[in-house]
Amino acid sequence: MLAQDAIRTRRSVRRFLPDAVPRATITRILADAGRAPSGHNTQPWKAYVVTGAVKDRITAEILEMVAAEPWEQRKPEYDYYPVTWVEPFIGRKRKLGHDLYRTLGIAREDKAARERQMLENFKFFGAPVGIFITFDRRMATGTFMDVGMFIENIMIGARGEGLDTCGQAIFTWVHDIVRRHLPIPPEEILACGIALGHADPDAIENKLIVDKLPVEAYASFHGFEDQPS
Ligand SMILES: Cc1cc2nc3c(=O)[nH]c(=O)nc-3n(C[C@H](O)[C@H](O)[C@H](O)COP(=O)(O)O)c2cc1C
Repeated sequence: MLAQDAIRTRRSVRRFLPDAVPRATITRILADAGRAPSGHNTQPWKAYVVTGAVKDRITAEILEMVAAEPWEQRKPEYDYYPVTWVEPFIGRKRKLGHDLYRTLGIAREDKAARERQMLENFKFFGAPVGIFITFDRRMATGTFMDVGMFIENIMIGARGEGLDTCGQAIFTWVHDIVRRHLPIPPEEILACGIALGHADPDAIENKLIVDKLPVEAYASFHGFEDQPS
């Protein structure tokens, strides 16, 4: 697959088939992802890959916990989202929520159904594989960029294998539970989870195609007088 095709066909999949993904395939994706650039070649990323009983135990413990204590009231390990949202970002965030729930046929006021859908995150949306991405918290803000490149490489590399993914920052709200099941040392911060597997082509969740901005909205060109757009 061409890099451009992998980039253009990547999207967040929120319903997977149960079909297993061979360990060798996951290893290949991660080995390629590790080709990502990083400041001073620090390669600060770590990946904890879960499947089967380990994954199921993490899901079960999180779901048990959130039944007693809403996950949003817990402290995430870092601020993925701003404390105060401003435009245009809040508008885009609201549109995503609106489009996702409309696709799923969930009414705006149906909080219970929205919450049920949100909890699907903790089941990795049915994916057979979950990947937890961590890095050493003694590193600095720039490390988030390096780790982001690693994450994107996983997502693009998965496309090259005919697989799909969904980033899952939500796991940082329940990082303490994830840690109980994996040998993640205290100095590592849980950046996010990633669901990985075969997209369910018939699932309504996967009919959502989000809007993307045109390039003119975020890029400007300077000194190209001889090459008008
Ligand atoms: C680091 C990261 C974390 C994310 N966390 C979640 C999440 O917890 N749950 C979820 O449903 N989607 C999550 N997403 C998916 C975004 O909502 C999605 O990327 C965005 O809506 C754009 O859609 P697209 O990926 O289909 O282009 C995450 C994406 C990224 C990059």
